[in-house]
Amino acid sequence: MADTATPNVIRRADYAQPAFLIDTVALEFDLVPDRTVVRNTMRVRRNPDASHAANLELMGEQLEFVGATVDGAPFANAHAHEHGLTLDNVPDNFELTLTSNCNPAENTTLSGLYVSGGNFFTQCEAEGFRRITYFLDRPDVMATYTVTLRASKTDYPVLLSNGNLLEAGDLPDGRHFARWEDPFRKPSYLFALVAGKLVALEERVKSGSGKEKLLQVWVEPHDLDKTRHAMDSLINSIRWDEGRFGLELDLDRFMIVAVSDFNMGAMENKGLNIFNTKYVLANPETATDTDFANIEAVVGHEYFHNWTGNRVTCRDWFQLSLKEGLTVFRDQEFSADMAGGATDEAARATKRIEDVRVLRQMQFAEDAGPMAHPVRPESYVEINNFYTMTVYEKGSEVVRMYQTLFGRDGFRKGMDLYFKRHDGQAVTCDDFRHALADANGRDLAQFERWYSQAGTPRVSVRTKYDAAQQRYSVRLTQGYGEAAPAARETQKGPLLIPFAIGLIGNDGRDLPLQLEGETRASDSTTRVLEFAQTEQTFTFVNVAQEPLPSLLRNFSAPVIVEYDYSADQLAFLLAHDSDPFNRWEAGQRLATRELLTLAGRAATGVPLQLDDSVVAAFARVLTDETLSPSFRELALMLPSEAYLAEQMAESNPAAVHAARQFVRKRLANALGKDWLAVYDKHRTPGAYEATPEASGHRALKNLALSYLAELDDPAEAVRLASAQYDTANNMTDRAAALSALLNAAAANGGSVEAQQALDDFYRRFEKEPLVIDKWFALQATQRGNAQRPVIETVRKLMAHPAFNLKNPNRARSLIFSFCAANPAQFHAEDGSGYAYWADQVIALDAINPQVAARLARSLELWRRFTPALREGMRTALEKVASQVKSRDVREIVEKALA
Ligand code: TRP
Ligand code: ZN
Repeated sequence: MADTATPNVIRRADYAQPAFLIDTVALEFDLVPDRTVVRNTMRVRRNPDASHAANLELMGEQLEFVGATVDGAPFANAHAHEHGLTLDNVPDNFELTLTSNCNPAENTTLSGLYVSGGNFFTQCEAEGFRRITYFLDRPDVMATYTVTLRASKTDYPVLLSNGNLLEAGDLPDGRHFARWEDPFRKPSYLFALVAGKLVALEERVKSGSGKEKLLQVWVEPHDLDKTRHAMDSLINSIRWDEGRFGLELDLDRFMIVAVSDFNMGAMENKGLNIFNTKYVLANPETATDTDFANIEAVVGHEYFHNWTGNRVTCRDWFQLSLKEGLTVFRDQEFSADMAGGATDEAARATKRIEDVRVLRQMQFAEDAGPMAHPVRPESYVEINNFYTMTVYEKGSEVVRMYQTLFGRDGFRKGMDLYFKRHDGQAVTCDDFRHALADANGRDLAQFERWYSQAGTPRVSVRTKYDAAQQRYSVRLTQGYGEAAPAARETQKGPLLIPFAIGLIGNDGRDLPLQLEGETRASDSTTRVLEFAQTEQTFTFVNVAQEPLPSLLRNFSAPVIVEYDYSADQLAFLLAHDSDPFNRWEAGQRLATRELLTLAGRAATGVPLQLDDSVVAAFARVLTDETLSPSFRELALMLPSEAYLAEQMAESNPAAVHAARQFVRKRLANALGKDWLAVYDKHRTPGAYEATPEASGHRALKNLALSYLAELDDPAEAVRLASAQYDTANNMTDRAAALSALLNAAAANGGSVEAQQALDDFYRRFEKEPLVIDKWFALQATQRGNAQRPVIETVRKLMAHPAFNLKNPNRARSLIFSFCAANPAQFHAEDGSGYAYWADQVIALDAINPQVAARLARSLELWRRFTPALREGMRTALEKVASQVKSRDVREIVEKALA
């Protein structure tokens, strides 16, 4: 591999224990925007389990070293350098005090200590603590922290850090202080402080064992009216973790703080979670149903980290999925339980479908490109580039498979053992697997391959029915197909795949399941087959009629299933499968197949036509009032353009767009009356409700509106959308109406109604940054046309006074929306999208490498596109490679070009 020559590659195989340990940390901050002084007093000792080192090597970045003392005496043998501080010939056990300065006002990377909106915030994961003070900034060095904050009382009236408040008071010269103590040992990446003009929504609740807890959601004063939902989500999270996993909040106080400049979604700092405002602030006027759901999920996610991540943390960053995969699984289960409890399978399936859609569109794509890596990577250049779909989403699927194999109770036993063994420790993915295995009396050696092998497994299925013997055999074969080179070299052998299956009879009902060798049929009509060899045959006996197989029910493993269903069989499954996930899946298979055929035709200029049976299958779902609105909305939504393009031998975004638009128009025109009826029937008059039912109605109604906007004559749709825009009492309906107006207008190069609504939207929400983000995003993702390509609108918006490249949410709302969520426009044949992309990656690289590297990834699949596009992409990648400075972006573009 090319990277063996590069000295900057960090390898899992090179893990060694730290030469020193740090037991306690006392931090003192004098907070001043352009020159903050940090004094750090540590108890340091040699690690008895590590080999001897005379010198102590501490990490540090962008720090100005002031001085060091050892056991109270000035220490002359301290040398600051580009990567940190070296202290020569230190004692075995000593107190070390270091003083250094940093410049939060100039810190645009949003890693370490920075200023946003005049307030101070920190972000330390993964390696930001070293930008605050010199330290052994690695997660296997765990210490207890006390933190003293000093600052101007008028400018920074609120001073927060991890844990419990010990004391606070005034100082001379208009300054004040606060002292915080976190009683739990933690790695440095969980350190946090916040200082500024903030207010909190507060609530006191009793935890399971009856202890009173103070909960706070801190925001800027004008946002206090948007904190209720985050608070409710926090309370629900606390209850859920007690009920489902017996895990209680371990601090007297739990704080969430919202900040508008933030690189990711949120951060689980001990007792002081810091959130992107996008995942905190919501009221019906400003936030959509999706926003409400995302807030619940992210609040849950960060809260659940308190046990899975904080109490038990990662030994090293290769183990990242130990906390992230597990915590995503927990937040997915939390959301499903909130929507449907433990038993409402249809309501739970909605969440499952949404999660699988993300996995297949984003993680499968990652696995097919140059960034493909196992859930537990073997190497990295920049760890920030490995907060990926694979680590998070595939990691969650891997955790889910334990639960599928052992059941909810078996999974819970494994979790209990994991905490019993490892509370307070920094551990590995292997430790987690061993706990699950031991608690369930199983050998899970083979299961380790889910952590070490990259690429998306394929399972092909062949079935045979023997009517005379009443036997039905299912032959499963596993492999990886044509994997990306990055993935291929990790693939060593077959996986243990929990393969859930049901058999469906002629009447649409599940048949009883009895495997060969069993004395009777099992109670459940879904069986989880443990598929562990390259090829394996499972035979069902006493099968009275030839069944239709329902494969990989509830998506029981993150694999691609290959089976030759006929269109009629898929329509039958869509109408009857008792597994709601597979019902949806049948519709998606049907649509995907049709759309790919059409895209192939569009690519070669052959006229398009759509089979009537597909229209009929959609019509049945549309008019089936026994199905929940949210399920119908999911089933009627076509696979995304990005997903479809990824399925082609050579990705052709223009052809995919043409095919998908053709089908949307055809479904709109053929079923116009039905769409209109659904639109009327699922209105939600009266006060806004954030319940799953109400949001299901809105989702289906707004999908109907989007189809109506495709009609050859959209006049009626434009009237409806304009009226909906004007009268909406919530953002879900208002944004959907605006989007429908924009798309209806695209065919005519714009419309008065669309422009008026856009202008109104801006004026109405000028003071709400998160809504203005939507205003940018809606325009960046709109459909284009020959007269006015979207790139022109995007370039114009770059000069809008509200645009700001330094704010990640704003940069994402315009630049990422265009480059990653509008494929047909971004991949314009003239290469204009790629030139724009290169300019923005280069500009962002100088401001915020983490954000720049995310944007850089939107061209990583360039080799999979049609030759006409490939060249333009390569040119753009080469331009970026020759100009960027950060390790973050370099790793991405160099891997893409290798
Ligand atoms: N650990 C955080 C989470 O998943 C995410 C995170 C990692 C992060 N690195 C970050 C957030 C940098 C902000 C900035 O919950
Ligand atoms: Zn996380």
